[in-house]
Amino acid sequence: MLNDIERTLFHEQTILRRLDELAAQITADYEGRDLTVLAILNGSIFFMADLLRRIQLPLHLACLSASSYHGGTESSGTVTFDLGSLPDLDGRHVLILDDILDTGLTLRAISGRLSAGTRPASIKICVLLQKRKARPGGMAADYAGFEIGDEFVVGYGLDYREHYRNLPFIGVLKQEVFSSAPARG
Ligand code: IMP
Ligand code: MG
Repeated sequence: MLNDIERTLFHEQTILRRLDELAAQITADYEGRDLTVLAILNGSIFFMADLLRRIQLPLHLACLSASSYHGGTESSGTVTFDLGSLPDLDGRHVLILDDILDTGLTLRAISGRLSAGTRPASIKICVLLQKRKARPGGMAADYAGFEIGDEFVVGYGLDYREHYRNLPFIGVLKQEVFSSAPARG
């Protein structure tokens, strides 16, 4: 697995130090509010675990499975998720957590459906990584761990075809990993 990595972008200690800062900011901003963290799985799983243990506030945790990539490196353009399993969010301050803001399609779809179907007191977005690129509607995260270029990254929850999520750092794959992947049917 390590042999497939071209270079490391963020070491584990760099990520955790940044999460200390993000968590301190979130703790200050949501003090005294009814906070519900809505984590988008699977990508945000390590981010969620490490960030939430640093937030010093009472909070509710809800998880939602969403996917738009279906295995490749380009967004498929359709986002699938099911809000039916979520707890009541009326009056709650909802902070959506995701691994990465790329095209913004996933988070736009989720926050749009949340504000249409429920009555949260507020909805904000927190991502570990935000790609530097233009997005429809100027969509941006309220909290972002790191800004990165428009390239495909893996590790610390982020996958390529469900591999590499368990790398403790974030890195870029060697080009040959993409070119040797079997064609999808
Ligand atoms: P969106 O394009 O902003 O909707 O991103 C949707 C999802 O695609 C993210 O939540 C990630 O799971 C995945 N994704 C986007 N960019 C990358 C990447 O560079 N590496 C791995 N997964 C990514
Ligand atoms: Mg993915």
